[in-house]
Amino acid sequence: MSTDELASKTAQICLGDNLLFVDEAAGSDETGTGTKCSPYLTALAAVAVVASMPEEKQATFKIAVKKAGDEEYSEITASALKKAKKAHEIMAKKAKKQAEQSAKDKEQIEAKEAEEQRRLEESKKIVLVEDSSLPAAKQIRIKEAVDCRNTRVKVFGWVSRHRVQGKDMMFVVLRDGTGHLQCVLNDRLCHTYDAVTLTLESAVALYGVIKEVPAGKTAPDGHELIVDYWYVVGKAPGGDDAITNRVNEESDPSLRLDQRHLVIRGDRASAILKVRARVMRAFRDHFDVCGYHEVTPPCMVQTQVEGGSTLFEFDYYKEKAYLTQSSQLYLETCLPSMGAVYTLSESYRAETSHTRRHLSEYTHCEAEIPFISFNDLLDTIEGMVKGVVKRLWDEPATRAMIKQLNPTFEPYTEPFVRMRYEEAIAWLNEHGKKRAEDGKDFEFGDDIPEAPEREMTDAIGKPILLTHFPGPIKAFYMPATKDDPRVTESVDLLMPNVGEVVGGSMRIWDHDTLLAAFKREGLNTDHYYWYLDQRKYGTCPHGGFGLGVERFLAWITDSFSVRDCCLYPRFVGRCKP
Ligand code: 4AD
Repeated sequence: MSTDELASKTAQICLGDNLLFVDEAAGSDETGTGTKCSPYLTALAAVAVVASMPEEKQATFKIAVKKAGDEEYSEITASALKKAKKAHEIMAKKAKKQAEQSAKDKEQIEAKEAEEQRRLEESKKIVLVEDSSLPAAKQIRIKEAVDCRNTRVKVFGWVSRHRVQGKDMMFVVLRDGTGHLQCVLNDRLCHTYDAVTLTLESAVALYGVIKEVPAGKTAPDGHELIVDYWYVVGKAPGGDDAITNRVNEESDPSLRLDQRHLVIRGDRASAILKVRARVMRAFRDHFDVCGYHEVTPPCMVQTQVEGGSTLFEFDYYKEKAYLTQSSQLYLETCLPSMGAVYTLSESYRAETSHTRRHLSEYTHCEAEIPFISFNDLLDTIEGMVKGVVKRLWDEPATRAMIKQLNPTFEPYTEPFVRMRYEEAIAWLNEHGKKRAEDGKDFEFGDDIPEAPEREMTDAIGKPILLTHFPGPIKAFYMPATKDDPRVTESVDLLMPNVGEVVGGSMRIWDHDTLLAAFKREGLNTDHYYWYLDQRKYGTCPHGGFGLGVERFLAWITDSFSVRDCCLYPRFVGRCKP
């Protein structure tokens, strides 16, 4: 009971007849007032009220108790009163001690705050000036630091971590996009206002000499910048708006997506984006060495490639137009002009599926090659994946980043498994996988859904070139095989942990067969006159494929979702930031 509550209870009692009532069955210490109509529950409550009165009044009060089961009140026994008084004494002592402790704590906090304030005021008086007697500092990026040890340098970057050690030392881990650098600030350098109030993600300039760390100590690249002068370039907020309050590892995934512009500063996200940059370059280098030309087809188109259900339609040209699903048809038109071609362009799919491997905008690496057979196409896809991975693996910096993200990753050098669609159906049935819609065995003609396909790929544990899909479940341009017209010269490359990464096929190259395919699909050939012309002006057997860059990255970096493998993912319900 607080002092105020006691005082109010005492006031009520004073109106009564100097008797406090305790009903051990029906009373209440919380709401009771000690009167007969509103008794306390315990003698302790009554003793506490009496003890709060002036001493001369205390002796005039008596306590009446009604035990559980009794009909009437009787005066409290001497032993019960003694017991209640003892309990009250202990409680009072405890409360006093607590009050003393909180007063002491408050005093300490106030002293600390005052000291902090004094330190801040003092810190404002310290103004750093670059020592003009020192050699001029050369501006470097962190990746150049190893070659610039023992000379005076200046490094710009963002505060990734910082730690104060004792009164006169502060460690800052600086990040500039090319690496991390441990920096040591001593004495006056860590007493300035900017040092005392330094926040994570502030942009700073640090001057000094890079020295190897003493034996037994660790730091990125085995060295640290011994700072002799520094200043803040752009301060980041602290307190409620500090970056760690805006986003952290535990944040809800949708909040992390809202704050993706801040998330990408994190170690994992930035490493994935850097590996992505290397992957794009490795594809370009691979195609360049293999004699392909890069082309950049339009994104705004009037044709569909992969079925009408995922088309993004827009109204601007006063006739129907869409965002491209695939650049394949345009690549095909380039063959007579440039030979083998490739593109690294965005493709758009108005997917409704909310899966970890579907985006509505993704980077599509597509290639088209003239005068090849279906087997050549399979070899080309396998050779590209292995070739690009080898390029990444042979670059020490990229290998280190991949190892950091996916420690168990090793380039796959064995031949990829080649499996026909029909064999996959048999595998699913032999392994007890059932169709989701009716719980029955899979049959020839069924589209293999993502989940069983992934289970099969993970169980086999090797890249699989899955071939010869039935025509009706594949795109209109895929030709039937000569020996079995039920199936097409088509292929999907399936990777463990990710699933389909590449989709490709030979293309129907006979004019009339293609015309029939358009008709079967209900497509208006007026929009495809240029595509049909390819079959008119020197047609030839050809084939190609498309690889989803984000899925390829998810495989290499062991990312759970393709959403982590692009800068700002776009998918159903998400178009920001
Ligand atoms: O299998 P797809 O639909 O094939 C084509 O678009 C062909 N026209 C490509 C060609 O032959 N030039 O898509 C090819 C690849 C898939 O294997 C997958 O990696 C990726 O593109 N992909 C997606 N990636 C992320 N989100 C989506 N919604 C994707 N749809 C396809």
